[in-house]
Amino acid sequence: MMSQDGLKFRAAAAAIEYLDDQRIIGVGTGSTVNHFIDLLGDFKSRLDGAVSSSEASTERLKKIGIPVIDLNSAGSIDLYVDGADEINPSLQLIKGGGGALTREKIVAAASRQFVCIADESKLVDVLGSFPLPVEVIPMSRSFVARELVRLGGQPEWRKDFVTDNGNDILDLHNLSIVDPPNMEKQINSIAGVVTVGLFASRPADVVLVGTACGLQKLT
Ligand code: 5RP
Repeated sequence: MMSQDGLKFRAAAAAIEYLDDQRIIGVGTGSTVNHFIDLLGDFKSRLDGAVSSSEASTERLKKIGIPVIDLNSAGSIDLYVDGADEINPSLQLIKGGGGALTREKIVAAASRQFVCIADESKLVDVLGSFPLPVEVIPMSRSFVARELVRLGGQPEWRKDFVTDNGNDILDLHNLSIVDPPNMEKQINSIAGVVTVGLFASRPADVVLVGTACGLQKLT
């Protein structure tokens, strides 16, 4: 029986096949992406560099000798590879378990193709069992929390955690997200919210799922 980490590796290895003639790629954050970064080492001569979605991924990329390029200098990106915390059948995602949701959303938005890599435990019918991360400006935290309660969720402050952008995270429990694009818009419109970790208006284009029986590709 393959471990969950083995299934993550299986998904990450499949994403390597999406490398083509891109000189710059976008790289997400998390344990699944860490496998992808490690595998990228063998292909670094084909790349000018990567746009990174977090300080953690930046450090890992640099360690294996892949230059990290500022998005402002990169222009539009052909390929973005990132993980997810939950994935529904429309390839809409909850992301931000690692707290990198805002930069991840920016790089995903700037990329032509978003390839999501995950183990099979991330597949769900309806998003919301995984607490939905919301990055907020610190002074707005209590106000935003009250507004999120009005939307029907139960926000919990991720204490002792500061995002790479210097902000706080509220994790929103007890939601059943039946209309992800609408929920994304509603949460993003609350003053003080930087980003919600719901990737619905820009879902993944392809999801590569590591399963016990092999690789599953969802499009
Ligand atoms: C980080 C993320 C990650 O992609 C998500 O948490 C999945 O992580 P992992 O690959 O470790 O399961 O959104 O902000």
